[in-house]
Amino acid sequence: MIRGGNPLHGEVQISGAKNSAVALLPAAILAESEVTLDNLPAISDVAVYSEILRDLGAVVERKEDAIRIDPSNLQSVAMPNGKVKLLRASYYLMGALLGRFGEAVIGLPGGCNFEPRPIDQHIKGFEALGATVTNEHGAMRITAKELRGAKIYLDLVSVGATINIMLAASRAKGSTIIENAAKEPEIIDVATLLNSMGAKIKGAGTETIRIEGVERMHGCRHSIIPDRIQAGTYMIMAAATRGDVTVEGVIPKHMEAVTAKLRELGATVEELDDAIRIVASGDAPYQAVDVKALVYPGFATDLQSPMTSLLTQASGVSVLSDYIYGNRFKHVPELAMMGANIRVEGRSAIIEGGPLSAAKVHATDLRAGAALVIAGLTVTDGITEVTGVEYIDRGYDNLVENLSRLGADIWRETVSQ
Ligand code: EPU
Repeated sequence: MIRGGNPLHGEVQISGAKNSAVALLPAAILAESEVTLDNLPAISDVAVYSEILRDLGAVVERKEDAIRIDPSNLQSVAMPNGKVKLLRASYYLMGALLGRFGEAVIGLPGGCNFEPRPIDQHIKGFEALGATVTNEHGAMRITAKELRGAKIYLDLVSVGATINIMLAASRAKGSTIIENAAKEPEIIDVATLLNSMGAKIKGAGTETIRIEGVERMHGCRHSIIPDRIQAGTYMIMAAATRGDVTVEGVIPKHMEAVTAKLRELGATVEELDDAIRIVASGDAPYQAVDVKALVYPGFATDLQSPMTSLLTQASGVSVLSDYIYGNRFKHVPELAMMGANIRVEGRSAIIEGGPLSAAKVHATDLRAGAALVIAGLTVTDGITEVTGVEYIDRGYDNLVENLSRLGADIWRETVSQ
């Protein structure tokens, strides 16, 4: 529940990245001794992943924002159903179990289904490494007598496929080259962990990644990079409420695309060493801007829905196009219930700025949920009720507490739907 209209003021601390954490947890099982991850976000996707690792036989212990994973007694247990269906990133178990045991049976992933999200490039990678992949009633059985390094060209730039191939290839015989690899900071984070575990990976963060397979991998300690999507969401919230917020514990370089768009809109953005301050308290109207969601270092698709809400606050018409997920617009009908004037044409949303008003709306996925909270923070005529908040809990830790501390009037209630 949000009674909007309060400008956000103060500091907010960003936690570790969800999309790194959900790859680093399965990556840890490639080691044969203990791995500790620091800066772990307290989100439900991490809790579910920890349970899955326990079900596979790992000893998992959490202490504050650190997690200790001892995978020495782990086995490749078949997981055709159950918890793997709750998460998109359960697909990383395929690469990790394949690398360590030469076999994996994992149900096709669930998670935020804002549009069909195929995994053909992951499978193409496993097959190139010598694995046989079959679909058994919705679960993937992946087996290999021996994984051998290969040259793999990805038909499209995929974060998940790049990481999954890195996981399996780390323990393959010989060298693997991934061409047209994704360059997201989370790829570098996973490669850094794997290298600390004894892997030999070069080029992560560029479009060509080279992996020299190793026979064994060992434990280590690693700190997860800050969540650039969470950080971007708070930056957008600060701008949408005309506030003054310092987003702390971030890597400003990762935020360049959103920083540039907020400046173009008319907000002041100061880049500090490991923080970004957004000063948006002036009364000059925001300029409409065009935004294209692209692969990194372009504007992140995960910030496309939050940005839609902000652009309703600009004067004029903005065009926001998503070149990663062309149908990721389930937040648009909900924003329309709040009075937004948005038309979807192909992979673009055409947004005509204007004030929003309070309504009951439903989050259909994680980032759509964030978009609705942003919209709710801007309205001045009542209480916005957002249901489906379990999606928001998948990726934003302490959202209500953080926003309350920044001055928002926001609270949780159990409502009958
Ligand atoms: N694609 C294919 N075949 C594949 C893989 C991808 O056609 O085998 C397509 C997808 O349908 C999409 C594009 O390629 O159109 C890019 O998909 P990608 O594989 O990069 O996405 P992902 O790895 O499944 C991760 C994040 C998403 C984020 C995307 C894009 C995780 C767990 N998820 O998904 O995050 O939107 O990259 O940056 O890392 C979120 O956090 O809300 C979220 C959905």
